[in-house]
Amino acid sequence: MPNADELVAIAAEHDRNDPLAAWRDEFYVVDPDLAYLDGNSLGMPPKRTFGRVDRLMRDEWAGGLIRSWEHWLDMPQRVGAQLAPLIGAQPDEVAVHDSTTVNLYQIIRTAVRLRPDRSVIAIDPGDFPTDRYVVDSIAAADGLTVRAGFEQLDDVAVAVRSMIDYRSAEITDIAAETARARSAGALTVWDLSHAAGLHPVGLNAAGAQLAVGCTYKFLNGGPGAPAFTYVASDLIGDVDEPFHGWFAQTDQFAMGPTFDPRDDIGRMRIGTPGMFSLIGAQCGIEVSAEAGIDAIRAKSIELGRFALECCDMLGLTTSTPRDDERRGGHICVNHPDARQLVARLAAERNVLADFREPNVIRLGCSPLTTRFSDVARATVAVAELSG
Ligand SMILES: Cc1ncc(COP(=O)(O)O)c(C=O)c1O
Repeated sequence: MPNADELVAIAAEHDRNDPLAAWRDEFYVVDPDLAYLDGNSLGMPPKRTFGRVDRLMRDEWAGGLIRSWEHWLDMPQRVGAQLAPLIGAQPDEVAVHDSTTVNLYQIIRTAVRLRPDRSVIAIDPGDFPTDRYVVDSIAAADGLTVRAGFEQLDDVAVAVRSMIDYRSAEITDIAAETARARSAGALTVWDLSHAAGLHPVGLNAAGAQLAVGCTYKFLNGGPGAPAFTYVASDLIGDVDEPFHGWFAQTDQFAMGPTFDPRDDIGRMRIGTPGMFSLIGAQCGIEVSAEAGIDAIRAKSIELGRFALECCDMLGLTTSTPRDDERRGGHICVNHPDARQLVARLAAERNVLADFREPNVIRLGCSPLTTRFSDVARATVAVAELSG
């Protein structure tokens, strides 16, 4: 295979010069020879999570029993405050709770209620399935219309959008698009699932109003770790979220007859939080915060450039944007046999990647754990297996 040795040597040089290389040691790696390019689906486990879960079991649950709820109760807001700087928000604008899908449902329905004079929800028909299904279900329940695309916004209540596309990794300019929607009178809900922990996002600077995202991808929170909700501080007093669960109640343990929501981000909470997964989210968020989101983004850009260089040298086709400003954290290689190639990468080359319909091999680059040599190995393997 021409160029393969050269690429492996260039990758080794990049790894030696990588200022974030040592962060991989913060993670528990079972197989150092595995090229793991799926951290954008499920991030690797931070070592500190083991000890913290153990402490939660022994000291807080077994030792503290019900008394531990004193400090568990506000964990979703405390972890939200830790996450906030990673996405450019204020500490009191973020809560970590429930799942991305539940939070999407909650925030889209909340947004619709903020625009009672409008009856259209706009979404990209190529967006992630759960976003589309949730939009369809809300539209059906509330008698609204779903519109494909964002060209016409002047009658739209809510535009539901991903900041980073789950297939192509294309980044949407959230400042420009939020402003365009705002000037048309529409609210925008941003899904940051493929951005949080990878890109500084800059919610406040972008004038973003509402957002959700998950913590188990680039934030390494663990399987099923809770998602987050962001509501801009100037909106929180106006929102009427649809669940009205008791964890959003002002004086929760007064057990009052009617719902009186808290006046802060806590009003987006629903019911009892799962402490094990919340601790996992907290540990992952801590690691990203300590490494620094700007350094993470800088390495993500380098990994992406290198992956594209590999694709070019190996003759692979990619539809991932070339412009650094428009490219998120994964590279897609387009190939008619993508599904079989992904299976063979795992079985024959110890390379884990993702298949996405219809023809995408998705190589996820997580700056804290992905090595340039993983990228070289994966792309060379794709070229060899498909050649
Ligand atoms: C853009 C996007 N939204 C939502 C989700 C997942 O939602 P949930 O965490 O509820 O499964 C994903 C998962 O990959 C995603 O990529």
